[in-house]
Amino acid sequence: MKTLRLHPRRWPRLPIALLLALAGALLLLAQGDMTGYWAFRVKDGGVSFLQFQQTGDTVTSVAAAGRGGRGGTLTGTLKDGKLHLASTVNAPAQPPAGAAAQTRQTVYDGVMENADRIAVTMQATGRDPLKGTLERVTREEAYPTRIPPPDLRDVPDNGLARTPPMGWNSWNKFQDVFDDATVRGMADAMVSSGMAKAGYTYIVVDEGWTSGRDANGKITGNGKFPDMKALAAYVHSKGLKIGIYSSPGPQSCSGKMGGGYQGSFGHEEEDARTFADWGYDYLKYDWCSAGGVYSNTTEDNQGAYQKMGEALLKTGRAIVYSLCQYGSHDVWKWGAKTGGNLWRTTGDIADRWDSMERIGFANIDIAPYNRTGHWNDPDMLEVGNGGMTADEYRTHMSLWCLLAAPLMAGNDLRTMNDETKSILMNSDVIAIDQDRDFKPVSRLSQEGKSEVLLRPLGGNAFAIGLFNRGDKPAEIAFRWDALKFDTGLYGFRRLQAQDLWKHGPVTVAGDTYTATVPSHGVVLLKVSIAGGRGGFGF
Ligand code: GLA
Repeated sequence: MKTLRLHPRRWPRLPIALLLALAGALLLLAQGDMTGYWAFRVKDGGVSFLQFQQTGDTVTSVAAAGRGGRGGTLTGTLKDGKLHLASTVNAPAQPPAGAAAQTRQTVYDGVMENADRIAVTMQATGRDPLKGTLERVTREEAYPTRIPPPDLRDVPDNGLARTPPMGWNSWNKFQDVFDDATVRGMADAMVSSGMAKAGYTYIVVDEGWTSGRDANGKITGNGKFPDMKALAAYVHSKGLKIGIYSSPGPQSCSGKMGGGYQGSFGHEEEDARTFADWGYDYLKYDWCSAGGVYSNTTEDNQGAYQKMGEALLKTGRAIVYSLCQYGSHDVWKWGAKTGGNLWRTTGDIADRWDSMERIGFANIDIAPYNRTGHWNDPDMLEVGNGGMTADEYRTHMSLWCLLAAPLMAGNDLRTMNDETKSILMNSDVIAIDQDRDFKPVSRLSQEGKSEVLLRPLGGNAFAIGLFNRGDKPAEIAFRWDALKFDTGLYGFRRLQAQDLWKHGPVTVAGDTYTATVPSHGVVLLKVSIAGGRGGFGF
């Protein structure tokens, strides 16, 4: 009988090789390989897409995958199923003059749940830790395919925003850490504080309200904003209007909550219909990740904004259209063609003198591009947020009103002190901003850090602002005859002037007016002809 004899020396060879291969595969599985595309998701927060390359234990992010996320390159290890990654970036990238560059570190620590999912805690310098997941996604999810923008054409004027829009926006105070109740509270406070009476109308929900899309592709609110239609109905019930926020890119920019939120790329018409159906009256449309799917050209910028401008018009609802692409490609020259009612002219404002000063005064030269229904937007107000003095906030408000800027309060309306109220609700100053007979502001004079700005107003009047941008009080003057009034047939005139912050008359005498203006402060006058047009008033 033939017995099966295993060769004593040969039999172990194959199984050992097999075992080794198996052990290697198991090790790799436990170890994981992160090479590929991943989404970092936070509950009720943002999403950022990352591409990783892994060699041995070492993991490196290849590039920000064109949407969301403002971090630098992430590097670290994946060892025994444990992930540790860190990035260090300068924040802000260009610190203000004199300020030291600060570094900001972002650290991701995670535990692999399976080959495609890692539970992660992200900790960025100065922020609360965020819990989220890294989930493997396809390349297409991370880098959506470019859809060519439409051929350029002029979108008809929607007839809205005949004066610069006024309202409140969530971003400056809350970034994306707010919810439905915050917005309702702000609508209540808009009415009870007197802001609504002063003209503030739109309550705008900025970044942070989306989760993604439902099975039918319809954009959805997240856990903090469970019913955007009900929210709109509530704000309307207060006699106010409501605004919403999206992006021409696949995602919005990213706030404190770990990446960008859902944008409207590829869903423009559908989203416009949804916003209209929910009852929204205003859309802020923020470029953000659009750079990942469009080229950095004027044509692509204009085309991307035109696409939504046309979609909004098609809904038949009166929706104010607010462009936000930080003033690139001289948007003031073509923003109106996309159907835009207002367009941001600069990067983001911060609650600091140097930021507000730089942005505000940079807008004077482009003021002539304003037209009824189409306004330069030097960004939202910081009044009441605590980073500037009362003089600086009065400068902020005076400058924005002389510029005919949209007045979107960016503070907590529920807790305003009297000083903040006196600045935001100064009806004489607001009247300059809202002058229906719009004429642009210009520089009457500039000497060192002193500037005199002049804006002709309807009703044969002028607003004149004496600004001291310097660190010490300054004497600033102008000649009365620099104000070119329509003096009528007989040329007689007697001027009357009001100090709009002191709320009292100013004596008109001699050739010039001189005031001592505090550091970073302003004296704002309205000058008209006593007795009205033509001026017989001796
Ligand atoms: C950009 C805009 C801001 C705000 C944020 C949200 O920075 O300019 O006004 O909307 O995005 O991330």
